[in-house]
Amino acid sequence: MTQPDCDPTLSSVAFEGLRDMLYRESGIVISSSKSSLMVSRLNRRLRHLGLTDFDRYLLALEQDETGQERREFVAAMTTNVTSFFREGHHFKQLARDILPPLIARAKSQDARLRIWSAGCSTGEEAYSIAITLLDLLPDAARYDIKILATDIDTYAIDKARAGRYRAGLTKGLSADQISRYFQEEHHQGEPWLNIRAEPRHLIAFEPLNLHGPWPMRGPFDVIFCRNVVIYFDEATRTELWQRFAKIVAPGGWLFTGHSERLDTQALAHFNLNGTTSYRRSAEAQGDTTYSAPMALKMQQGA
Ligand SMILES: C[S@@+](CC[C@H](N)C(=O)[O-])C[C@H]1O[C@@H](n2cnc3c(N)ncnc32)[C@H](O)[C@@H]1O
Repeated sequence: MTQPDCDPTLSSVAFEGLRDMLYRESGIVISSSKSSLMVSRLNRRLRHLGLTDFDRYLLALEQDETGQERREFVAAMTTNVTSFFREGHHFKQLARDILPPLIARAKSQDARLRIWSAGCSTGEEAYSIAITLLDLLPDAARYDIKILATDIDTYAIDKARAGRYRAGLTKGLSADQISRYFQEEHHQGEPWLNIRAEPRHLIAFEPLNLHGPWPMRGPFDVIFCRNVVIYFDEATRTELWQRFAKIVAPGGWLFTGHSERLDTQALAHFNLNGTTSYRRSAEAQGDTTYSAPMALKMQQGA
């Protein structure tokens, strides 16, 4: 590919077109004052394609028959900030109140236990859930326990599956958790932590657009969807809360990010039960009609 030697230009028509496409593809909203964000996030894509302006890039996206460049576009526009045990109160509540009865049921009745990290980014949230589970149940692999972790950004999912983190970026983990659940290795002179098999095998990482069809079957006992809907508008959030209400088990839980709250419509299905922790009423009827490859994988233990 040729490398243009000056920065590509972003016309207002291209900016509006790209904003619309991002919204259609992902539900992510970019405000009209954020054109410089668009330029900085997409510059690399244009350089890679040898394009000198965003109008041509928009055209390339519109004519993209394989969908590959649209996936690159969305991945470039997502914000993947995350960390281990982020918003730690959720993990304390999980360990103290939520998991013990679910684990007891899994052990005594062979019942399935399902947790979903929706918008998992590079995996730290899902691994924090797995570590919390293993602290309580070291032989979790013997039971029907699975964590599904999904994100629209396939690069983030690749990193999550790799489960390798720069040692300097693992704040949130105790020294004990590091020694129990990670293996230290050196890569290009730097220390890295490699997640061990026990937490890794509890999790299925899959690309999934929350704004599109969900191929998996519920119900989930706990859903983490934290710091994802802040990028959506009200209509997309409202729709998402309703879909979570259908796929969470009666009596199941939904965690949102620190600045995210369920709306009035969603509160017809959930009760607030701690800061940004919501519980679906136990009498609610579960909708478990989703089925497809991901459901199969979850059932088969992938
Ligand atoms: C800021 S990170 C949050 C990660 C983690 N949940 C946490 O709280 O630390 C937001 C993630 O949401 C993902 N995301 C944004 N829109 C999405 C969509 N429509 N479907 C699935 N994931 C999406 C992004 O790719 C990004 O990885």
